[in-house]
Amino acid sequence: MNIRQLMAGVALAAFTVGPAQAEDVEVLHWWTSGGEAAALNVLKEDLQGQGIGWVDMPVAGGGGEAAMTTLRARVTAGDAPTAVQMLGFDIKDWAAEGVLGNLDDVAAKEGWDGVVPAALQFFSKHDGHWIAAPVNVHSTNWVWISKSALDATGMDAPTTWDELIAVLDAMKANGITPLAHGGQAWQDATIFDAVVLSLGDDFYKASMIDLDPDALGGEKMVEAFDRMAKLRSYVDDNFSGRDWNLASAMVINGEAGMQMMGDWAKGEFLRADKVPGEDFVCIRFPGTQGAVTFNSDQFVMFDVAEGGDAQKAMAAAVMNPTFQSAFNVVKGSVPARTDVPNSDFDACGKKGMADLADAGSNGRLFGSMAHGHSVPASVKNAIYDVVTAHFNGEYDSAAAAEELVNAVEAAQ
Ligand code: BGC
Repeated sequence: MNIRQLMAGVALAAFTVGPAQAEDVEVLHWWTSGGEAAALNVLKEDLQGQGIGWVDMPVAGGGGEAAMTTLRARVTAGDAPTAVQMLGFDIKDWAAEGVLGNLDDVAAKEGWDGVVPAALQFFSKHDGHWIAAPVNVHSTNWVWISKSALDATGMDAPTTWDELIAVLDAMKANGITPLAHGGQAWQDATIFDAVVLSLGDDFYKASMIDLDPDALGGEKMVEAFDRMAKLRSYVDDNFSGRDWNLASAMVINGEAGMQMMGDWAKGEFLRADKVPGEDFVCIRFPGTQGAVTFNSDQFVMFDVAEGGDAQKAMAAAVMNPTFQSAFNVVKGSVPARTDVPNSDFDACGKKGMADLADAGSNGRLFGSMAHGHSVPASVKNAIYDVVTAHFNGEYDSAAAAEELVNAVEAAQ
C-alpha cells in the first residue's frame, strides 16, 4: 500500500467513524431557569449520546437581549460560538451580515421543507437557504393560574377582560398577590403582547407588525395602556427587577394567584411536580382565545472554521421528531414540526399544539413583538422602552401612545 492509499484509508476511516465525534459544540443560550435547564439537559444528553460534546455559554435574560449583546461582542472579536439560540428577526439581522453557515444539506436530507410550518421557515431561511434549525414554538398569550387560588375565589377561569378583573379583585380580597410579575422590560412587553391582542387581531397586526402610526397612537392603544396600568395595580411592591421564574414560583407556592407569561412558565410548574388541571390552570389571555402570538427558539449556526460537522449533527438532532417531543414536553413549548404526535404532551401542551394549528389555518397566528417575531430588534427595543416607562408610571396612557408613535418612527 503506497502512502496515497494509506492516507485515503485514514480519511475514509475518519469519515465513517463520524467527524462529529471529535468535535464539541459551544452553545450560547439563555436557558438558565430550573425548567429551562431541565429541557437543555434533554438536548445535551441527546448530543452526548451521539459523541458531540457540549460547551455551555449561558447568558440569562428572557427575550435574549443580554445574550445578543454577548453574541455581538464574540463575533466582533472573531470568536463566534458554534451554535446560538436565537429569535425571529435577530436571525434575519445576522443572516444579512453574511456570517451564518448553511444547513441546506441536512435540511434536504431530512425533509425540513415539508414539515416546518411556513411561519417558522420565514425566519429559518435566508435567500432560500436554511440557516437555522427551529427547536420549538412558544407563545406569549397565556395565563398560568393557581388552581387553589382560583377555587378560593369561587369563580371560573376568566374568558373576558371583565371576568379577569373580577378574579384578580377576588384574589386581592383573599389576601394574596393577584398578579406575579417581574419588572423587567421584556416581561412587561410579554404582557403587552397579550393585552394588545386582546383588543383585536386587526389591532395587533396593524400596531405590532405593520407599525401603522394610526394604530400605534390611536384610541385603542390608549385603551391597551389603560389595561396595562390596571394590571400594574395587582402586582406586589417588590416586583421591580424580579426574574420571571421567581414570579412563577410565587404562583407555584401559593403566594400569588396568576402569572401572564409565555409557556416556558409551564416548565417551572412541571419542574415543581405541579400538574395541569390539578395544581394550575392554563388559559389563553382573556379575549385572545383562538389567536396565538408565537415565538420560536432556533439554533443558528455561525460560519466557523472548525466544528461544521458537529453543527450539522446538532441541527439534525434538534429536528429529530422524537427529540422534538421529548424536549418540548419538558420545555413547555410545542414542536416546530407538524408531524410530531401529541401523545406525550400534557393537557396544556395538547392545547398549545391544537391552538397553533388552528391559529395557523385561520389566519390568527402572529409573531410576538416581545420575543422578536414581529419587528426587528431596533423597533422592538423602542417599544420596550415606552411600555416599561408607562408601566412604571412615567407616562399616562395618552402620553404613552403618543410616545410609541415617535419612538417607533425614530427606530426605523
Ligand atoms: C425564549 C424561551 C425562554 C424565555 C425565558 C424566550 O425568549 O423563547 O425559550 O424560556 O425567553 O427565558
